[in-house]
Amino acid sequence: MTVRRGQRTVLHRADAAFEPGSVTVVAGANGSGKSTLLETVAGVLLAAEGTVSGVAPRSVAHVAQTVASPGPPLTVRAAVAMGRWGSLPWWRPLRPADRRLVAEQLARLDLEDLADRPLAELSGGQRQRALVATGLAQRAPVLLVDEPTAGVDARSLGLVLDALAAEAGRGAVVVHAAHDPAALASADRVLTLRDGALH
Ligand SMILES: Nc1ncnc2c1ncn2[C@@H]1O[C@H](COP(=O)(O)OP(=O)(O)OP(=O)(O)O)[C@@H](O)[C@H]1O
Ligand SMILES: [Mg+2]
Repeated sequence: MTVRRGQRTVLHRADAAFEPGSVTVVAGANGSGKSTLLETVAGVLLAAEGTVSGVAPRSVAHVAQTVASPGPPLTVRAAVAMGRWGSLPWWRPLRPADRRLVAEQLARLDLEDLADRPLAELSGGQRQRALVATGLAQRAPVLLVDEPTAGVDARSLGLVLDALAAEAGRGAVVVHAAHDPAALASADRVLTLRDGALH
């Protein structure tokens, strides 16, 4: 697909197929278009040419790259619980199974002690883990995470990579953007964005 942002063509006939049950890392320099690619697959951006196929509506969990703004005033637990809303009619409270799933994701990323803290009051690395948990809680067939390993310490890096591998293990398509050598080494496949194309 070809994707433009303003006057700039960021992706130029970039082409890739992502397999269920595997983790793909999208690598590339700052500004190479990793976020643009994930946003286009997620349906946040529209391709000028080409299409994204095989992704059903509401089947994508997309965790955007951490931004400086703190976002809505939510606790970590509430933010992760939001991941379950998509599977429920708007008037329904979370079911016990949803609450269990939320608790599981908090445990998986070692967020239990932080669960009742406002998201905005976490450190950058802690927030990063919490954002990954919001993506995992959706149990989506396609999980796209933008730089989940940026700024996390060695232990959290392991937790994040293990969690992403486990999502692939349950059959999901997992794609994440990364620079970290450990993230690249743990991927089933690494695609590198250069000059608007995937190599
Ligand atoms: N909203 C926007 N409007 C115009 N250009 C944009 C916009 N967002 C990003 N760009 C440009 O698109 C190109 C790709 O940006 P993108 O955010 O996809 O890169 P990236 O590979 O994710 O970088 P990083 O490693 O810094 O996260 C860059 O040249 C950037 O300046
Ligand atoms: Mg980016």
